[in-house]
Amino acid sequence: VLVQLSDPHIRADDDQAATRLEAVLRSVLALERTPDAVLISGDITDAGDAASCERARDLLAPLGDLPLHVLPGNHDDREALRATFGLGGEAGEPIVYSAPAGDLRLVCCDTAVTGAAGGRLDERRLDALDAELAAGPGTPTVLAMHHPPALTGVKAMDSIGLPEADRRALAEVVARHPQVAVIACGHAHRSMVSALAGRPVLICPSIFLALELAIGPDATADPDSLALVGEPPGYAFHMLLGGAVSSHVMTVDGAASDPRD
Ligand SMILES: [Fe+2]
Ligand SMILES: [Fe+2]
Repeated sequence: VLVQLSDPHIRADDDQAATRLEAVLRSVLALERTPDAVLISGDITDAGDAASCERARDLLAPLGDLPLHVLPGNHDDREALRATFGLGGEAGEPIVYSAPAGDLRLVCCDTAVTGAAGGRLDERRLDALDAELAAGPGTPTVLAMHHPPALTGVKAMDSIGLPEADRRALAEVVARHPQVAVIACGHAHRSMVSALAGRPVLICPSIFLALELAIGPDATADPDSLALVGEPPGYAFHMLLGGAVSSHVMTVDGAASDPRD
């Protein structure tokens, strides 16, 4: 069981975001199977500062010894995340790494661009990803990234997604690695399924507020028009079953008491 959390947007001074993360963690810990690993697919913090990173780390303490794997979103500061969560690599380098997760292999690929809301997969990241995938050809793999390589239909969200050329370049890399079973993303703050290179793209619901579903003809591509609405927080988990990866999407009642009670 690989649990995927996304977009908690923790702030040092925001208790609402913290409460939503706490409710999600209670749900994760109440699963009847102990997770093999937990992924957070970006926007761990809302503003990237060290105090928010440290609060996020403290809020995640209930996970105890469960292996925790993070990757940056556009709201995070890559170096603050690297320092707080002990990620490897040189300062300024994109974060691309792999980790075992039970019967699965998790490969994380950094799509964040310092100072920008949109993502990029430039040649350097794609080369690093290609090499990381080539190192584990025999294990069904969850490829995790913050920005989804898919359109949402919400133009303002798609204007801060991955450029079409980058999505196409990623499809070429993925096509070379048949073990990639699912591409697991965040950023869009909605649960959604799409596809790239014949693999499912799962966009995990956010822990923080949800994206307003502005898909009407009058909706604009202006990122300033993005609005968040108060839907319940959620998360996903991925399991290897019968040789394929099945993914569950969970909704959590943020106001509910501890489900273990
Ligand atoms: Fe986000
Ligand atoms: Fe994001």
